[in-house]
Amino acid sequence: MNKPRKNSIGFCGGAYGDEGKGRFVDEYVHKFAKKGKVVLYRDNGGSNAGHTVAFDDVKLALHQLPSGVFVKNVVCVLGKGMVLNPNDLLMEIEEVKKASGGKIIAEIKIDEMAALSLDTHRAFETALSNYQSGGKGSTGRGISPAYMDVILRHPLRMRDLKKWDKKKIKDHYKLYKNLIKGLGFDLAKMEAKRLDGTTTFVGSEKEFINELKTHASKLKKYIEDVSGFIKETWANTKDYAYVFEKSQAIGLDMRYGVYPDVTASDCTLGGVTYSTEGTIDSFQIEKRVAVIKATYMSSVGIRKIPTLVEGEFANRVREDANEYGATTKRPRGIAYLDLPAIKYYQKAGYTTHLGLTHMDIVYKDTPVMVCIGYEINGKPVDYRPDQEYLLKVKPVYKEFKTWDQKAMMEARKESEIPKNAQIFLKYVSDYVGLPILVIAMGPKREETIFL
Ligand code: IMP
Repeated sequence: MNKPRKNSIGFCGGAYGDEGKGRFVDEYVHKFAKKGKVVLYRDNGGSNAGHTVAFDDVKLALHQLPSGVFVKNVVCVLGKGMVLNPNDLLMEIEEVKKASGGKIIAEIKIDEMAALSLDTHRAFETALSNYQSGGKGSTGRGISPAYMDVILRHPLRMRDLKKWDKKKIKDHYKLYKNLIKGLGFDLAKMEAKRLDGTTTFVGSEKEFINELKTHASKLKKYIEDVSGFIKETWANTKDYAYVFEKSQAIGLDMRYGVYPDVTASDCTLGGVTYSTEGTIDSFQIEKRVAVIKATYMSSVGIRKIPTLVEGEFANRVREDANEYGATTKRPRGIAYLDLPAIKYYQKAGYTTHLGLTHMDIVYKDTPVMVCIGYEINGKPVDYRPDQEYLLKVKPVYKEFKTWDQKAMMEARKESEIPKNAQIFLKYVSDYVGLPILVIAMGPKREETIFL
């Protein structure tokens, strides 16, 4: 039981998202792909995720597809645990094709069991936002309503598109028409946001169905029962490496995050077990890496995390590290590194290693402030993902001496890491109780050091 599976590694966000895990995924995918085949597996989220891929003179934002889609020898699997928007997916596929000279380099497999997230869901999310705080901070991609369909036992799945189950799709439209009517809106006249920033009307039942039919015919070839493929390749440790790329982050998981800025999917690597119907036991993933920003944290939404900062430091970091949402373009809140929260998330997410990005975000005149505990009325207390509780805690800070940014950016091996940065890294690792696998100090591939 739980014997580590050779050549497997998973990356998840270790805080509130946007930690930059894509760059590490990219490194491992390339590394493994040089030696053999790689399965790059995604098990949660949908168009709410976003990361920018840059190589040669190509720069594009990916949402539902992982960046490994540009790498030979890679099979990208969009798993059962995802909620996929067909229109967005087709737009992404087209962009990827264009960027790679007309055809997709990697292979794409969409699990026929993956759920659909449609314009109806986006419209419902808009209608709900007038009624509940939970809808206010979403990315507007219809994620929660799509997962709600799964929980209420009437999801539309990718295979319904492939088989073209018109009755099921009609029933779906009717259901949302009535739900939305109950909230005082007319579904056909409601707008839904598209990936490219444009909006479209959901339209009449006929229009909705016709559009979906066009999407179905284009996506059909990617949709399949992937269970046999996963079983076979997971067992074949010699020919197939496995890389798991989570969306969002453990601090956005609705069980462990702070309401209302949580998402509806399982943001821990544990979600892989569900998504593969138990074929892959997530505890067998050899390294389960939580990626965090080293010298600060960022947070999108209205939650108030205890270490949030305003003013000059926040503005500087926001500009230097481009802290604006990749999907929503919203300016992100900036906070000091909150180790009690990070430690809690790693326990919740059963991670085995840390990966630290943004080691270069340091300032000559400013110490690196790190929260190392909380107090309520002078008594030490733990982290708990509860907004009311977190409003009462007082963070306890430790100041770390800053390090030379230039030396950090030029470092290429452990011994070249500035002394003060080494002291900081050891403290973080000891506090959280996990070894640090890798650090990054710039966006380029060579700007990483494996420890
Ligand atoms: P949803 O995932 O669209 O339902 O949004 C729910 C919450 O999760 C909102 O507060 C979003 O801003 C947040 N969220 C979703 N995806 C991401 C992400 O990739 N990075 C940061 N926040 C995210």
